[in-house]
Amino acid sequence: MSTSSRRRLDADPPLLFPDYRATRTRAPKLPLVPFEHTLSELTGPVYGHERIGQGDHDLTQQFEGEPLGERIVLHGRVVDDDGRPVPDTLVELWQANSAGRYRHVVDRHPAPLDPNFAGAGRAVTDSDGRYRFITIKPGAYPWRNHDNAWRAAHIHLSLFGLAFTQRLVTQMYFPGDPLFFQDPIFNSVPDRDARELMIARFDLEQTVPEWALAYEFDIVLRGRDATPFEE
Ligand SMILES: [Fe+2]
Repeated sequence: MSTSSRRRLDADPPLLFPDYRATRTRAPKLPLVPFEHTLSELTGPVYGHERIGQGDHDLTQQFEGEPLGERIVLHGRVVDDDGRPVPDTLVELWQANSAGRYRHVVDRHPAPLDPNFAGAGRAVTDSDGRYRFITIKPGAYPWRNHDNAWRAAHIHLSLFGLAFTQRLVTQMYFPGDPLFFQDPIFNSVPDRDARELMIARFDLEQTVPEWALAYEFDIVLRGRDATPFEE
């Protein structure tokens, strides 16, 4: 994996997108200064496989009881621009619970926390670049960016490559969400086709009868169909 110029950077959202209010103060005002990476940054181990627990990909089994909400399977492949699988990639996920609440101190949304849902999981892609999570469909949540602002339901995803410096972060959305039009984070990705690449596909084939719906979300690291990533 590489975050270098081989990625189609025009698909990614700009650092300053005034409708997304926090970027007005957060975006750097001066040109970025590139730093050479040190050898240990590039060659040091990212993580040990032994630290990925067997149940880390299943967010419905991390506590004694099951979390409330709509159980879903989220799966897909991490691929290169030619569709080549990217194996052994750490995929981390974090999200709000079904009521739209994060288990995080700064989340003040007056929606209930779920004692059986932490909202974080991780998986490693297999030799075919595949990952699979079992989780709960997150709820929309308000976020005070503008009057009556709501985030479209989304799941945050992070990918690590072969070194800590190779990290990509994106958000996955659900098809047909009525909140897309007023969500400036979704719309900060300038290109309409690129925005579509952040929307998972409902996958009837991978649904589990009597148990869970499924969504497929392929993550493309570069090229024409590259998934938009946060810089
Ligand atoms: Fe979020």
